[in-house]
Amino acid sequence: MRLYANFQYITEALVSIIISLFQYGFDPSRAYLFGFSFGGQLASAVGRSLQPHFIIQNIDTCDMAGPGFDPITVDHSKAGKYVQCFHSSRDKGTLIYSCHRNIMLGSCGLSQPSIASQVHLGSHGLCVDIYINTFDYPFYALKTPPTDCISFTQSAKIPNDYTVGYEENFNKQITGKIFVPTSLHYPYNLSKKELQLLSRQNG
Ligand SMILES: *[C@@H]1O[C@H](CO)[C@@H](O)[C@H](O)[C@H]1NC(C)=O
Repeated sequence: MRLYANFQYITEALVSIIISLFQYGFDPSRAYLFGFSFGGQLASAVGRSLQPHFIIQNIDTCDMAGPGFDPITVDHSKAGKYVQCFHSSRDKGTLIYSCHRNIMLGSCGLSQPSIASQVHLGSHGLCVDIYINTFDYPFYALKTPPTDCISFTQSAKIPNDYTVGYEENFNKQITGKIFVPTSLHYPYNLSKKELQLLSRQNG
C-alpha cells in the first residue's frame, strides 16, 4: 500500500532524474526502460510524463501490475516510441492490453505451465525469468491466436519463425496481441516442433 500511495511521487522522482540525464546529453532515442509489475506501471507513467518533450525509444514491461490499477484504461502505447508488454498472470498482472505489442505468455498470458516445476515463482514472477531467457532461447509466436484465448483486440500478423523478446530495431509491422506458449521446465521455451503440434491442435 505504501508503494501505491507513493506512485505519483516515485514517478515524478524518476522523471526528474531522467530529464537531468537528457540535459547531460543522454539521447532519448537510444533510451530503453524496463519495468516489472509495479515497476511496469511506473515505466509507462514515466514515459508518458516525459512526453511531448522527450520520447523514450523502447519500453519493455513484464507483467505490469493489475490490482490497484485495473480496470482504468491507460494507453500504454503513449509511453514511448515502441512499447511492448509481456503478460503472464491473471491475479497480479493487468488485463489492460494497450501496448504496441502485448505478448501473451503461456496460457493466454494468464498463467504459466511452469508454476508446476518452479516452487518459488508464481506465474507473475516467472515473467521476468522468461523475459531474461528470451535473450538466449527462441520463444516462437503462434501464427494464429489459440481458440481458447479470448481476444477482443486485434492479434498481430506473425511472420514465420517469429520470436519474441527485446528488439533493438523494433518491427513496426508487428503490433497487437502475440501468443507465445511456454513450457513446463526451465528455460520455458518450446521447440518449433512442439509449437507446430500446438498449432495443429488449435485447428
Ligand atoms: C529451447 O531452445 C533450445 C535452443 O534452440 C532448443 O534446443 C530446445 O529444444 C528448446 N526447448 C524445448 C523444450 O524444446
